[in-house]
Amino acid sequence: MKITVVGAGAVGATVAENIARKELCTELVLLDIKEGLTEGKAQDMMQTATLLGFDTKITGSTNDYSKTAGSKVVVITSGIPRKPGMTREELVGTNAGIVKGVCENILKHSPDAIIIVISNPMDTMTYLALTSTGLPKNRIIGMGGLLDSSRFKYQLSLRLNCNPSDLNAIVIGGHGDTTMIPLIRFATWNSVPVTKFLTAEQQHQVVSDTMVGGATLTKLIGTSAWYAPGACGAALVEAIVRDEKKLFSCCVQLNGEYGQKDICLGVPVVIGKNGWEKIVDFGLNTDEQTAFNKSADAVRNMNNVLKTL
Ligand code: LAC
Repeated sequence: MKITVVGAGAVGATVAENIARKELCTELVLLDIKEGLTEGKAQDMMQTATLLGFDTKITGSTNDYSKTAGSKVVVITSGIPRKPGMTREELVGTNAGIVKGVCENILKHSPDAIIIVISNPMDTMTYLALTSTGLPKNRIIGMGGLLDSSRFKYQLSLRLNCNPSDLNAIVIGGHGDTTMIPLIRFATWNSVPVTKFLTAEQQHQVVSDTMVGGATLTKLIGTSAWYAPGACGAALVEAIVRDEKKLFSCCVQLNGEYGQKDICLGVPVVIGKNGWEKIVDFGLNTDEQTAFNKSADAVRNMNNVLKTL
């Protein structure tokens, strides 16, 4: 089975590395427009195969999509990352053209592929991938919510001084500093609500630190993060190829669920061999639903920008 990762920047290369280490496929193609970049990174990764003990064969391709033919899953990381002080939304003009072109090229050679979108602004790029390709909605999945949920668990673990693996916590809504909604009411520490252990002020702090999680890293590193985004991209691929039926927060098309339609937004979904298979309704309270609607308004405004490009 073949998997393709498009875009060999830090995020794309990390997705690829994690896929190979987990041996999620026999063939892994890394594609980028920059001459030689993927051939070099593929060779570098292959030279770790005997040390790390994986059999996945990684190859690079400088913009030759024929090499990606027959891919079961394609992860799109192409586009420019944000710089310190930038929002994800400021990338829309540049990244929309890139993502649209990548989708067209991919489907010429892999018409049955499930597409995972990581490029930013992720909610709008997912919507663009869906509307420009006309693919069945279950085959287009935006990755943001999984990453934000992972950051939420990290922040909670710092506050509770506990092991992040003992936490269950999910972030829904948009993948933007002001549009994501960490659902603290549903977060548990080994099945006990975390709200039992944290004051209202501490809860507020965890939520706001989660929301600026990506921006904090961009400020520290000077560019967008890649270890967690890369691990999340590979976790999504794993849930698909192993038909895991994992419940992840992902950006998918809503058709009345969570009170929204004609939009792609982060909600809890079951991921398996068909892509996203089911949306799970958590039953939001009034405040959470209000926040979700506000998030949808902001994402819809950004989607409208696509019409002007
Ligand atoms: C981040 C980017 C990948 O949040 O959206 O780090």
